[in-house]
Amino acid sequence: MSSSSENFRSREFPMTEEDYQFLRQLAGRETGIELSEAKREMVYSRLVRRIRSLGLMDFAGYRHYLEKNKHLELTHFVNAITTNLTSFFREGHHFEALRTTLLPEIIKQNAQRRSLRIWSAGCSTGEEPYSLAMTLQDSGLCKGWDAKILATDVDSNVLAHATAGQYGREKIQGLPQDLQQRHFVRTEREEMVQVDPRISAWVTFRQLNLLHEWPMSGPFDIIFCRNVVIYFSKDTQRQLFDRFASLMAVGGYLCIGHSETLHGITDRFESLGRTIYRKRF
Ligand SMILES: C[S@@+](CC[C@H](N)C(=O)[O-])C[C@H]1O[C@@H](n2cnc3c(N)ncnc32)[C@H](O)[C@@H]1O
Repeated sequence: MSSSSENFRSREFPMTEEDYQFLRQLAGRETGIELSEAKREMVYSRLVRRIRSLGLMDFAGYRHYLEKNKHLELTHFVNAITTNLTSFFREGHHFEALRTTLLPEIIKQNAQRRSLRIWSAGCSTGEEPYSLAMTLQDSGLCKGWDAKILATDVDSNVLAHATAGQYGREKIQGLPQDLQQRHFVRTEREEMVQVDPRISAWVTFRQLNLLHEWPMSGPFDIIFCRNVVIYFSKDTQRQLFDRFASLMAVGGYLCIGHSETLHGITDRFESLGRTIYRKRF
């Protein structure tokens, strides 16, 4: 046995090799997230609080509890293993491209039906879809249009935060002053700000596991799925991007995260550079 797994056995709550392999498989099956050997420490620290609060003795006890209370406990488990790092206008070039190229193009393409559908898939605590809404609002291009942003995530905790639309002031500190003033309002708590209701009105939040059935019929004009598939296997990525393509209008745009690529995964999109793609077929 490796010294690292010895290490996990001698902790406050012992986690054996078998426990870790069980949790790895469950995470992969339920969310597509492939936990590598290097994620042992992370899994331990994220689940240990839960094990303590349930009054259990070890990870074997937690496995047993999970199996007996699958439906309820799975939500806690999934919430614990997702990584939710995000920020307003993260990877800013996507929002710049949206304003200067993607939106004007789509507006031209959809001029007849005057409707626009955007999906933020894996929206975490909401900074991404709200940044999309701020870009739409500031562009002034969608006035009088039926324009909507759907924002989804598998994690119920981050969705609750996203729907509330309240953030610590430090989260918006790096944004231009005029943008802060236009799109955020004060709250009763000095240290918090709230997304302006004119911005949140563009966005609908829903819980959705990307591995499950999707209730939406589309077509979407723009999909942002950034920093989500990074831990998915190539096969899961291929299936997901194929499903995205099938739910998009031809000429629709897909933006993915900076360390992700469609190269060698699917040819249903053409690359426009800087992790922006256009649906070919
Ligand atoms: C790192 S965050 C990315 C947030 C945002 N897209 C960004 O780039 O800033 C990844 C999000 O993907 C979500 N996620 C992971 N697996 C998922 C799945 N199978 N279905 C839906 N969301 C998933 C996580 O819960 C997490 O909130």
